[in-house]
Amino acid sequence: MEMRLIDTHAHVDLEHYDGDREEVVERAKNAEIGFINMGLDIDSSKKSVNLAETNEGVYAGVGFHPHEASSFGSPDPKRLRKLSRSDSVVAIGEIGLDYYRDNSPRKDQREAFRTQLDLACELGLPVSVHNRSSTEDLLRLLKERDEVPRGVSHSFFGDYELGLEFLDLGFYLGLSGPLTFGGEKELKEAVKRFPLDRLVLETDCPFLTPVPHRGERNEPSYVSHVTEEVAKIKGISEEEVSERTTENAVRLFDINGE
Ligand code: NI
Repeated sequence: MEMRLIDTHAHVDLEHYDGDREEVVERAKNAEIGFINMGLDIDSSKKSVNLAETNEGVYAGVGFHPHEASSFGSPDPKRLRKLSRSDSVVAIGEIGLDYYRDNSPRKDQREAFRTQLDLACELGLPVSVHNRSSTEDLLRLLKERDEVPRGVSHSFFGDYELGLEFLDLGFYLGLSGPLTFGGEKELKEAVKRFPLDRLVLETDCPFLTPVPHRGERNEPSYVSHVTEEVAKIKGISEEEVSERTTENAVRLFDINGE
């Protein structure tokens, strides 16, 4: 499948799509938009692999979201390792820390994050990292490692200096729907200065729906609205944003790479 754009972080396995999942996947395909479906726990990771194995242009991430970190239990990544044997798996994700909701004890979140970073290094896979109100610990856990996996700060939110911290670690920055919202001046100023060759686009669907669909359910085909916004902010063409961010995603996730 010819890919014009890649949504590097989606959750099309979720129940939000139970009524029309095939149509959602079809709409992305017709628009030449590939996507990477990220797992949130074992069940969702399995579904991601399944979705990716049965649809062209769909790839999978396997991992435990920090909300599910407690169910990760003792750090035993055996089941993730087994799932990752599928050729469709291109990432360990979604992993990270979330001190905003604190759905799992912070100690468990850190333990699960470390274990999955180790797994990513072992398997040579990039990570898709969630960070909410946990920047300090997250950066510390990355910086203290001997080996930092390739990765992306998923749905990056922050100023230029924070972006630089991730770029210095070799990470890419994932831009999503909130960039299209009215405010977010600081984020837009930062995006103007970030190098285009370190940006990837994403939806985090069904969440974070971009304008003009804000308030509706999000889906991979809406990633084009993030493209428009990045083009506007950087003062370049949408074609250039599409081409370059797609190249970045292919490089980062080694898509069709073998
Ligand atoms: Ni997500």
